[in-house]
Amino acid sequence: RSAADPKQFIRDGLPQIVFAGRSNVGKSSDINRLTGRKNFARVGSAPGKTSQINYFSIDRKAYLVDLPGYGYAKVSKAEKERWGQLMESYFQDEGQLISIGALLVDARHKPTGDDCMMCDWFRQNGCPVVVVANKMDKLKASQREEAIGLIRQTLQMADDEVLIPFSAERGEGKEALIQALSLHCE
Ligand code: GTP
Ligand code: MG
Repeated sequence: RSAADPKQFIRDGLPQIVFAGRSNVGKSSDINRLTGRKNFARVGSAPGKTSQINYFSIDRKAYLVDLPGYGYAKVSKAEKERWGQLMESYFQDEGQLISIGALLVDARHKPTGDDCMMCDWFRQNGCPVVVVANKMDKLKASQREEAIGLIRQTLQMADDEVLIPFSAERGEGKEALIQALSLHCE
């Protein structure tokens, strides 16, 4: 289901695994990689492809929830406000059973202020968060360690918080992410 409005939210008590992150970071691509589908979630070359909250039912046991991305500069003020209101309604809605947040960041860049806020949003709501360092295929082997360190440090991740190097393009990290997410959906 796609929800543009809280009236359309799914409130059936099944756990929701939420994918959050900047526009164009690869949330929809990661969902396709995890589910082994090509265009389950629609992927775009232009940022802002996903503008609604999209729920993907997984064997009627849980939902993967694809959120619209944030931080895209060319979006109008009205559109940004719409985004903020939709996110606020979603996170405050008592019917949503958000069991874990997957926060996607671009492995090539230092996480932004918005990424830090998003991460804290999950933590403050008592929601465990797994950080997914996406587009890992764009880094040289020699750059990996430093990139991962910078992400952990910028998001002030505790030692027991999980970071998974991932590539929707190549499939790196798929099993590790499935395992981390399913732990919270039993
Ligand atoms: P919004 O819906 O706008 O929030 O974007 P999104 O986060 O869903 O990103 P999307 O999955 O649409 O991917 C954006 C672009 O990045 C597409 O051109 C993808 O092919 C590309 N992409 C996504 N993941 C990877 C990856 O791991 N490696 C590489 N090289 N490209 C990727
Ligand atoms: Mg998307």
